[in-house]
Amino acid sequence: MTPRGSGPGDATAVAHANIALAKYWGKRAGNENLPAVPSLSMTLQALHTETRVQFLPGLSADRLSIDERPRSGRELERVTRLLDSLRAQCGERCFASVTSRNNFPTAAGLASSASGFAALALAASAALGLSTALDQVSSLARAASASAARSAFGGYVALESGAFAALPLLPGEHFPLCMLVTVLSELPKSISSTSAMLHTAQSSPYYPAWVQHAPDVFARVHSGLQQRDIAALGSAIEHSALCMHASMMAADPSVIYLQPQTLKVMSEVRRLREGGMPIYFTMDAGPHVKALTLPEHAAEAEAQLSALPEVLRVIPSSPGPDAHLLS
Ligand code: DP6
Repeated sequence: MTPRGSGPGDATAVAHANIALAKYWGKRAGNENLPAVPSLSMTLQALHTETRVQFLPGLSADRLSIDERPRSGRELERVTRLLDSLRAQCGERCFASVTSRNNFPTAAGLASSASGFAALALAASAALGLSTALDQVSSLARAASASAARSAFGGYVALESGAFAALPLLPGEHFPLCMLVTVLSELPKSISSTSAMLHTAQSSPYYPAWVQHAPDVFARVHSGLQQRDIAALGSAIEHSALCMHASMMAADPSVIYLQPQTLKVMSEVRRLREGGMPIYFTMDAGPHVKALTLPEHAAEAEAQLSALPEVLRVIPSSPGPDAHLLS
């Protein structure tokens, strides 16, 4: 049954996952979790997290359940840190029970932390009677996981280098693209993006070049989007993803998220493109490929990608909405 928040101390929020078209990889110095590069994402209609937060007087610690499984350790610590910052703002002393559900595999590189922390930030703020303005929700989510800042907003969203909160750039209707998420594994990722990007910054000789080049790639992505130019946008998103992966592959020891099946799908996307379809790929901290195309090509692209033996399933998505409360 779907939980619904009601009354003081209890709220439920939904936030949608986002996929970066211009990637965030790397943090500014300091411990505020500020991004070292600008990023730009599309919020996805098809993938979301629903989170209920209940502040309960009887609890002796925060409790977390994700997809019906109780969680502890690092996952619970990150949630408690976000709740602590809100408790400090309003003098609340109660602990909370947090129940979260994804409609897609958790921690497999499908941006579950982005939608998860955005939904948590909104639900917890509402449960405590604090501001639910989306720029504040975005800032709170960013402190937990920088890509989560972008999931506060729908459509196309930017997170500038060093920014505390994301900015809604363009509504989905401006350029209603289709993102085809090709799921290539149900396993959790081998190394968290937080650890992998710190390790890249510390040991990759290509990291300074990545940080220096990222604003140019961001500008190309932004302009392709503004002009509704799929070829310009598509070539820029592939470049951003490959530059990010190159920076981590050059870390010592290397970080490699791409699997043989990832390369197979990337080359299939390029083969389809050579056949005349405007379709472009991007990859995050996991093996999956996300392919971007125009809505009129989505059905054919989905059929072609689903037919590959490496592909477990394809989730097509249009641009999604702002994070919101359920009442
Ligand atoms: C590859 O937001 O997970 O998905 O701020 O350390 O929590 P932390 O990192 P996280 O990194 C996401 C990186 C990425 C690219 C992107 O979403 O921009």
